[in-house]
Amino acid sequence: MSDLSHLPLDLQEIAAGDNAQRIAFIRGQWWIGYPQAQASLDLLGAAIENEPGRVRPQCFLVLGPTNNGKSMIIEKLRRDHTPPVLPGRDEENIPVVVVQMLTDPGVARFYQHLLEILGSPVRRTARKHDLEALALSILKRVGARILIIDELHNLLAGTVPAQREFLNLLRFLGNELRIPIVGAGTKDAYLAIRTDSQLENRFHPIILPVWVEGDELNRLLQSFVATFPLRKPSFLSSAELQRWILARTGGTIGEIAALLRSAAVAAVESEEEAINQRSLRLMKYQGPAERRRLTEKLLV
Ligand SMILES: Nc1ncnc2c1ncn2[C@@H]1O[C@H](COP(=O)(O)OP(=O)(O)OP(=O)(O)O)[C@@H](O)[C@H]1O
Ligand SMILES: [Mg+2]
Repeated sequence: MSDLSHLPLDLQEIAAGDNAQRIAFIRGQWWIGYPQAQASLDLLGAAIENEPGRVRPQCFLVLGPTNNGKSMIIEKLRRDHTPPVLPGRDEENIPVVVVQMLTDPGVARFYQHLLEILGSPVRRTARKHDLEALALSILKRVGARILIIDELHNLLAGTVPAQREFLNLLRFLGNELRIPIVGAGTKDAYLAIRTDSQLENRFHPIILPVWVEGDELNRLLQSFVATFPLRKPSFLSSAELQRWILARTGGTIGEIAALLRSAAVAAVESEEEAINQRSLRLMKYQGPAERRRLTEKLLV
């Protein structure tokens, strides 16, 4: 067996295993704590600790292009704040409540969806007023300390009155529960919030921009590579390679991860055992621009 000392001990064991296992491992989702993600988690974590109970809790908007790590941060926040289940305690404790904004921004549908997530599904015909009262009482009972609405940009899919009604709901929930509310989404989420100046002032933006050339990108690439059980070390720090990866992927973390995973799989299959020129040439990865071009060609 080759020298695996470039890998941490737990990965050395996997690297010694068979190819199918290694490929499955490469395709797994592992959390990588890059600085902007850590800063966002710190801000939101501090809000969970300090904001509940305030008259005007600080709210946040996690904004960034699609496929750029917003939902991963929210999921990590939830994991980090999930209390251990204590034996003999059947009352559920859910400090971090995460709900998806549906494409239909109706207030009744939102409450129904929220109640499903809280484990209390209700009849479709229940009245808005009752749904609201029930949702509030359950959110209090489970000890919600933050309410996160992912895909908030879907709000713009609704009519203007429906959007306004939903924004009023956000304001109402914030006032009633006195907990921070977090919206996550693309720029459209910000545009939706901005239509209500009172809400706009309450929401502090946390922006996840696309990646650019530099040390942070270098560290991100190294961090991904460090999760791959390849039997030889990979060297990805050249500026030229960084520029090439950014051009192929469009610079979102989701596409960068997909490219690197494809390259790592090609490294296993081709027996190169490292991400290098050859595995990058052999990998099966199409970036967003290529996918679009191919789709358009098929549509002609
Ligand atoms: N911190 C991270 N560590 C490892 N991989 C990550 C991380 N953040 C994002 N990724 C990768 O990027 C992909 C897209 O991330 P995510 O689903 O969080 O994007 P998003 O911003 O919520 O996109 P959308 O707006 O389309 O919902 C993930 O499936 C994962 O492969
Ligand atoms: Mg998402």
